[in-house]
Amino acid sequence: MAARQDDEHLIEHNYDGIQEYDNPLPRWWVYLFYATIVFSILYALNVPGIGIGKGRIADYEADVAAFRAAHPQDAETVSPEQLAALAADPSALEAGKQVYVTNCASCHRADGGGMIGPNLADDAWIHGGTLANIHTTIVEGVLAKGMPNWGKLLKPDQVNAVTIYVASLKGTNPVDGKAPEGTPVTP
Ligand code: HEC
Repeated sequence: MAARQDDEHLIEHNYDGIQEYDNPLPRWWVYLFYATIVFSILYALNVPGIGIGKGRIADYEADVAAFRAAHPQDAETVSPEQLAALAADPSALEAGKQVYVTNCASCHRADGGGMIGPNLADDAWIHGGTLANIHTTIVEGVLAKGMPNWGKLLKPDQVNAVTIYVASLKGTNPVDGKAPEGTPVTP
């Protein structure tokens, strides 16, 4: 590298004949650097809630709680009351039908009449016919009999929707449905 001639910028010290130029960083760069330090301190204080507001952790928890309150059917555990309320929602039934057609019709037939899996439209249930029973069967499956554990494969709101859709098949009397299996449940 060609030697620079502006010796006024040369720093005094001299180590083994090596001298340095004083090359100050641009002002904007230095101010930006100071700004990141100030920001990091304010940010660190804000995480547990020191300073303005409740803090990032509390804000996050409040957001999650608000979401859960607004979407109760998304919760991992759903109450029979929530399922019953969902059953009155036509859009949830429609969503459940989509889940059913995609995932369940191959074994239970599109109309629920049964094939590899039992008839879902009759009054007889092997694993219980309440909304809560049906939900549990779908979530846990009956792996030994070839019914997959849909709780691992579908989202909670999909399981909830397909639960109420299955319950809605009752009494639709599909043509050539499989003979009832299990215990008849009188509503
Ligand atoms: C690979 C085939 C298969 C698929 C796919 C399948 N099932 Fe099943 N299902 C079965 C079998 C087999 C049984 C019977 C289990 C038994 O005998 O205990 C069953 C049982 C059930 C029962 C319990 C019926 C009763 O009488 O208690 C419900 C409810 C049910 N399935 C819902 C679903 C839903 C909802 C889906 C889709 C998300 C689905 N199944 C997909 C094979 C399947």
